[in-house]
Amino acid sequence: MQKGLFITFEGADGSGKTTQLNLIKNYLEEKGFEVVITREPGALDIGQKIRNILLHHEGIVADRCEMFLFLADRAQHVETFIKPAINQGKIVLCDRHTDSTIAYQGYGRGQNISLLTELNKIAVNGLIPDLTLLYDVAADVAQLRVGNEKDRMESAGIEFHKKVRNGYLELQKNEPERIKLINANNSIETVFEDTKNIIIKLLEHGEGV
Ligand code: TYD
Repeated sequence: MQKGLFITFEGADGSGKTTQLNLIKNYLEEKGFEVVITREPGALDIGQKIRNILLHHEGIVADRCEMFLFLADRAQHVETFIKPAINQGKIVLCDRHTDSTIAYQGYGRGQNISLLTELNKIAVNGLIPDLTLLYDVAADVAQLRVGNEKDRMESAGIEFHKKVRNGYLELQKNEPERIKLINANNSIETVFEDTKNIIIKLLEHGEGV
């Protein structure tokens, strides 16, 4: 059986990446591919508990505690869910992954980025996305889309979210082969066309599937 593909969806809260992930899932399934969707943090049982702390804990969460919790969730997710699915030949669409940690805990919270990069490597144990889609939207527009019911991360303030956005753009500049930039200010239909075109190219030229 051939190896599947691993595609990650990244961007600000409110960038519309989850909508696109679901549209692409339907599109790929109509084309006959076997697709699974998943997310970080919190795809699995242990992850659900970690997610609850990360997004809803009411007391103080130290920055390094937050960092290790995201990484712990990732290690479990990769080992018990993502790798087996790829090995079964599936296309795995993952809502957030390693780049979120660099953008949020690194650029956003100010944790050391090269250290985070190393910790990410430990968490994923050799797994690298075949493709990462970065949905870019101005921080204030994204915050408006999120609305008033914000979780712990979404409530971190506009300055934090501006840093996160710039962090993502920096990552994309450093790894343009893997990370493809998508203008998420456009309509859902236009963003979907852009997403589809990038994925079609990967399916034509990529090594998986
Ligand atoms: P979620 O509700 O899944 O947000 P979204 O639908 O926007 O993906 O919440 C995940 C939050 O956790 C989001 O604010 C980004 C943040 N996050 C990090 O700070 N670091 C990470 O490594 C990951 C995976 C997510």
